[in-house]
Formats: sequence, structure tokens, C-alpha cells
Amino acid sequence: MRTESLLEAAQAARIRAYAPYSQFPVGAALLTEEGAVITGANVENASSGMTVCAERLAIMTAVHAGYHSFKKIAVVADCSSPPSPCGACRQTLWELAGPIDVIMGNLDDEVLIEPLHKLYPRPFGYEKWAENPVGNYMLDQVEGWRIPVNFHPIGYIANDFSDPDRIPSNYKELLSKVVLTPEYEEGLYRIEEEEKINIIAYLHQARNKGYTLKEKRLGRGNEVYGVFVCRAPLRPNSIAETRVELVDRNKNVLTVKGADLVNKTPVLDLKTIMPGD
Ligand code: THU
Repeated sequence: MRTESLLEAAQAARIRAYAPYSQFPVGAALLTEEGAVITGANVENASSGMTVCAERLAIMTAVHAGYHSFKKIAVVADCSSPPSPCGACRQTLWELAGPIDVIMGNLDDEVLIEPLHKLYPRPFGYEKWAENPVGNYMLDQVEGWRIPVNFHPIGYIANDFSDPDRIPSNYKELLSKVVLTPEYEEGLYRIEEEEKINIIAYLHQARNKGYTLKEKRLGRGNEVYGVFVCRAPLRPNSIAETRVELVDRNKNVLTVKGADLVNKTPVLDLKTIMPGD
């Protein structure tokens, strides 16, 4: 993954900081060996010593999500020179991530990249805790499928629809763009051969609105149906699956017709449609 993309993920993560005391939101994005991006932001507390920095939240979230090998971390804050991780974060990152690169960026696009072992040359207990014996051995014994899954968007929708409750009724005739982050461009190889594709997206504006398991469904003649028997956006995982017509491709940008998704909807995946589907 390109440095800029990881910095952009860190900058985006920064908006979910809870920093009412310092007023200094920080975002971090950690790239795993498998290519997943796990983010964090600082979360403060009135009892100030309990504050958790962005980098530590990212690495601990990643470990808890089951990742154990990492490539690099980006940290973004609004400061005059790129933000440098504190000592506690350096120690934690060293133990859990090892000698990764640390990419530090501010909002003026100043970037500094240093290997962690240079930022933190004499760590305490430097053995890497890579095998995670507890987590691995417990996986067979507990209901591992219950653990929340973690996705990172591969791109976003660009169009003129801003309100999810006011998608134009003729949306099937309207164009949208699917903008993938450039590192995924190669994954579009031969997509021009497809007439229609499925977009799997995350309905980020529906996320906090809740849902009911059984109610009247507009899309089903206003009759009562279960949430898994309709396509309503308010559902446990806010996932959308939309079939669109592929109109054009320009590098990492697709033009599609028929998306019922608002501007800036995160796209999780694109899939082809099998004959007879
Ligand atoms: N902070 C981070 O999130 N990362 C760092 O590397 C240094 C500091 C946060 C902690 C606190 O919420 C705020 O920045 C001011 O110290």
C-alpha cells in the first residue's frame, strides 16, 4: 500500500478521536502483512492518565482482530512538524509489531518516515510476541465466529446523491463513479468484459440508526417482513449489495449506471455476476 493511502486512512481515523481535554485529535493507521488497514485515534479521559493514544488503539485493535504481522503505521495530527509517537506507544508498537516503519504526517503534508528501531533503539523486553499462544490455541475451543470482523474500504462512490432518504426515483438511469484507491487498480483487470457488476458497500450513514427485526417494509409493498427478507438499509451490518451497469472504466475509476448509494459511500468489494444469476 502506498504511503499516501495509509496517511489518508490515518487522517480519516482522526475524525473519530475523543480529545475534549487536549483538543489534539490524532489518527493512526496500521498496515498488516495481509494488506488490511486497522485504524485508531486517541481516546481521552477526565482522569488524564487513562488516555489511550491513537497508535496504541490501532495496534491493540489489530491484535484483537487477529493480526500479528505488520508492515508500517501512519500517524497524523495537526502540528507544525510531523507528530512523533510517545514513548509508551513506541514500546507497545515494538513488542506487538516489531521493527515496522513509522510514517508521521501533519495536515500540511509534511511527512517523516523512520524505522521504529531508530525511534526506539533500546526497548524493554525486545522479543517479539509473534506467536500469541493464548489467542491461537483458544480459537479452536471458543466460538471464534462471534468475533466482529473488520473491513477496510477499497474505494468510494462519487455522485450527486447526498441524502440516503432522497435517492432520486430514477436512479436506475443515473450515473455514479466508483473510485478505487489506486493500489487496487490492477484488480480491475478485464472488468471491461462485464456488462453488469455487483457493488458491495457499507451504508455508513445508516450505521447508527438502528433497525428492527420485523416491521413494515416499504420495498415489499409495505407489508411486514423480517430484516433478512428485505433489502432495507437499516440492518445489523449496514451492508449494501447493488447491481449496476458498467458504462466505462478510466484507470481506477469506473462509471456505473444504477447505483442507489449516496456520495462517498465506502465500497468494500466488487463482484461479477455469474451467468444465470
Ligand atoms: N497522542 C497520541 O494519540 N499519540 C501520540 O503519539 C502522542 C499523543 C494523544 C494523547 C492525547 O490524547 C493527546 O495526543 C495530547 O497528548
